[in-house]
Amino acid sequence: MVLIHIPKPWEIPEREITPETIFLNRRHFIKNLISAGISTALLPIFGCENNPESTITPTTGTLKLESVTPNPAFTKIDRAITDESLASRYNNFYEFGATKSIWRKAQALPLEDWKIEVTGLVKNPRTYDLDDLRKKFPLEERIYRFRCVETWAMVVPWIGFPMKLLLEDVDPTSAAKFVRFTSYYNPKITTGPGLHFGDLPWPYTEGLRIEEMANELAFFATGIYGHTLPKQHGAPIRMVIPWKYGFKGAKSIVKIEFLDFQPATFWNTLVPSEYDFEANVNPNKPHPRWSQATERLIGKGPSFSWETRPTLPYNGYGEYVAKLYTH
Ligand code: MTE
Repeated sequence: MVLIHIPKPWEIPEREITPETIFLNRRHFIKNLISAGISTALLPIFGCENNPESTITPTTGTLKLESVTPNPAFTKIDRAITDESLASRYNNFYEFGATKSIWRKAQALPLEDWKIEVTGLVKNPRTYDLDDLRKKFPLEERIYRFRCVETWAMVVPWIGFPMKLLLEDVDPTSAAKFVRFTSYYNPKITTGPGLHFGDLPWPYTEGLRIEEMANELAFFATGIYGHTLPKQHGAPIRMVIPWKYGFKGAKSIVKIEFLDFQPATFWNTLVPSEYDFEANVNPNKPHPRWSQATERLIGKGPSFSWETRPTLPYNGYGEYVAKLYTH
């Protein structure tokens, strides 16, 4: 069964729903950027949470996906699925801006003729287009918990395929130890206001150990809520690593490289003391500026409310992944 969801109207301005902690955190974040030698030109950007674009109409650019099999291991979960009208309008996609309401700006992402280059330490380097992916990798649906490092959380019905299928297709050599994922970047298009100064380490990149990519939970999503991914969620293909904080899930992937060294990544390069490479969800390891002991689950209906819950180690996926971290 594919979950079909009819979006409901959502009319609450973001200033009423963005928790105070995020405003406060941003201020600290700015200080960090400044201490990292990054220009104060960023300051006005972080002040514009009250963005009129957050009061919006329907999700755009989504095609219903057929032939999707729900994976029975991931159909039940201990909390309600997040209303799509919330999940699709409360996003992080810094290439298009630093507010949570970048969904409209993200519509500038061009999807035509999308290619994903897989290269590096593999026996079968490949460049896939979307048709290749569809033919090679059967789609399934998985309902996963999603936990942002900023403490907000959701429950999302993703559609896509396990990363290990792609891994098997390209067949890494024994020298491959890490994988780098690179997001689409074109400074003429990904024009998040003020985000293109100084030394921000664009393009957005993320990385995994090869064993993490081979884990059965690691997923490439090409759809969500029964249809193709909207651009703000990282169309046409993004990473979903449910036991790690959300920033590990790079959006709009154009390149995957198999490496024999741990790659530099966007957030880890920018603020290494706050965003570590591993980034496993861990209630006992506070972020330097806030506790991770609890999380705020985004509201139950079409309007925002926050339900506080204890954070689960590995976001509740320890039975699948704890074995990867016995070192
Ligand atoms: N990928 C790219 N390319 N750019 C980004 O800014 N933000 C990350 C991650 N992937 C980000 C990204 C962060 S911080 C989070 S929490 C999730 O995307 C948010 O995913 P969502 O907007 O689909 O909920």
